[in-house]
Amino acid sequence: MTHALKTPDSSRKSDKALYGGTSSRRITVRDIAAAKERGEKWPMLTAYDAMTASVFDEAGIPVMLVGDSMGNCHLGYESTVPVTMDEMTLLSAAVVRGTKRALIVGDLPFGSYQEGPVQALRSATRLVKEAGVGAVKLEGGERSAHQIELLVQAGIPVMAHIGLTPQSVNAYGGYPVQGRGEEAAQQLLRDAKAVQDAGAFAVVLELVPAELAAEVTRILHIPTVGIGAGVECDAQVLVWTDMAGMTAGRLPRFVKQYAKLRDVLADAAKGFAEDVVNGAYPAEEHSFH
Ligand code: KIV
Repeated sequence: MTHALKTPDSSRKSDKALYGGTSSRRITVRDIAAAKERGEKWPMLTAYDAMTASVFDEAGIPVMLVGDSMGNCHLGYESTVPVTMDEMTLLSAAVVRGTKRALIVGDLPFGSYQEGPVQALRSATRLVKEAGVGAVKLEGGERSAHQIELLVQAGIPVMAHIGLTPQSVNAYGGYPVQGRGEEAAQQLLRDAKAVQDAGAFAVVLELVPAELAAEVTRILHIPTVGIGAGVECDAQVLVWTDMAGMTAGRLPRFVKQYAKLRDVLADAAKGFAEDVVNGAYPAEEHSFH
């Protein structure tokens, strides 16, 4: 029996690893904290539907974010700003149903938590109860600390999101890199400490210089999840449609494409269309008599 040859240490490590681990139970925020202690890096992808989520779950992706990027990637909006709680709840529930192992994090959309902690608790409770997510994410550092505190007190794990916060696109006038210059870097460090002190279990760092993200990662005891924030972060997240080459048009510089799914899907659609117009589909084996 091969497992008899393993040392206790190596079997324990492979069982616990977030990516590549052998445990099939659903991952929790305690597993995320333990990974930081072990110095283990982990991947996170967005997901917006049950079928795609099931593919990522089978591929071993340990954490999935039902991001409000669904606005641009799934619902045809220009930005994340129009996404509603109804849309977020519906799609989060689908992703939860499509997965067995991944920790599912539901994003709180713009306007669902900015009024204050009580509004945040109402919105987060809905995602936990109606969609079944294991955690929620919200944008903002110091400015969102009170919201994070109340959610954590209520037993809802919170992933924070600082640096570039896309829900503020109208205030930024675009998607600029954050944390450049001494004052902005100090603010980012204050934001990072504020969300950790408020009880967040992890923090997304979006579009910040790699050196600053590395410093935040060293200082914090909660994991940092980078997107356009360099290689030193504890985890990395990408929007799945960017990662798999489904998104049309120009991509941000930090994206690496691991497939050309848009071309694959277009070829499949054209193949089907040609077979239909040529009478090659359905063939005998697809027909009933
Ligand atoms: O909504 C989203 O997909 C996100 C990630 C980019 C972190 O917030």
